[in-house]
Amino acid sequence: MRASGKRTLLLAAFAFAAAPAAAQTSQFEQYQKMVGEDSPAELFVLVGADLWRKKQGPKNASLERCDLGKGPGVVKGAYAALPRYFADANQVMDAESRILYCMETLQGRSRKEALKRPFGNADKPSEMEYLDAFVASQSDGFKMTPGMSHPQEKRAYELGKALFFARTGLYDFSCASCHGEPGKRIRMSDLPVLSEPGPARAAMSTWPAYRVSNSQMKTMQWRVNNCYRQMRTPQPVWGSEVVNSMIMYLTVNAKGAVYAGPGTKR
Ligand code: HEC
Repeated sequence: MRASGKRTLLLAAFAFAAAPAAAQTSQFEQYQKMVGEDSPAELFVLVGADLWRKKQGPKNASLERCDLGKGPGVVKGAYAALPRYFADANQVMDAESRILYCMETLQGRSRKEALKRPFGNADKPSEMEYLDAFVASQSDGFKMTPGMSHPQEKRAYELGKALFFARTGLYDFSCASCHGEPGKRIRMSDLPVLSEPGPARAAMSTWPAYRVSNSQMKTMQWRVNNCYRQMRTPQPVWGSEVVNSMIMYLTVNAKGAVYAGPGTKR
């Protein structure tokens, strides 16, 4: 674990070459410190914090005034209270959708530009992966309390639930085909029964997650997207009602868990 951790840290270090130039000195110092502590997820949090404060976009603004649901500028505990309904956007949003919303409204960036590359890779993680890791880290230790009272929140939960059990795609799989019975595995992966509170809590309290198997920080938008890919459906649209409702359903199943991310997974 230690040796491979070192290797993945080196890979993450290359990603720094692509990180904002202004922040590079401090990131490099922080990186050196992290090498000693062997924690790749922590590295993403640090770069994400720099990006959060970085002025960019047509309005040359940072994301520091972003309202993640607890008021403008409050990041502490916000991730653990998502997804929820936002009146200003008139929709249910997960953390990533809300970060995107702030890029559009505060920084004046177009949705198209901000979403050009939502999923990164080991050589070059995406901006969203860094930011999501940072925002999530500020909820470490908070109870998970997704929105459950607004009619649109209830609707999102019901839609997510229906989608979870709906068979579709080339193989006629539903999410429950793989995540519906205890004890299922694919290769080295346990397949948690995500409709049950116990396994849902363990899974959902640790996303986004640094995946040691491929040295990447992956987010919940990616996770749902990738599982649909495994079902051979058309790729779902990033931040769409389908994906956000699925995230709502899974998070409500996990409600009450103590959030402990960003996590580290196989
Ligand atoms: C063909 C089987 C299959 C189907 C169908 C499937 N998944 Fe998955 N899912 C997996 C595998 C395999 C993993 C674990 C991958 C790993 O460990 O890297 C996983 C992991 C997950 C996780 C993370 C669990 C954890 O412990 O952190 C979530 C959340 C998830 N899936 C959601 C879904 C949703 C939502 C659907 C339906 C849209 C779905 N899955 C459909 C195979 C599937």
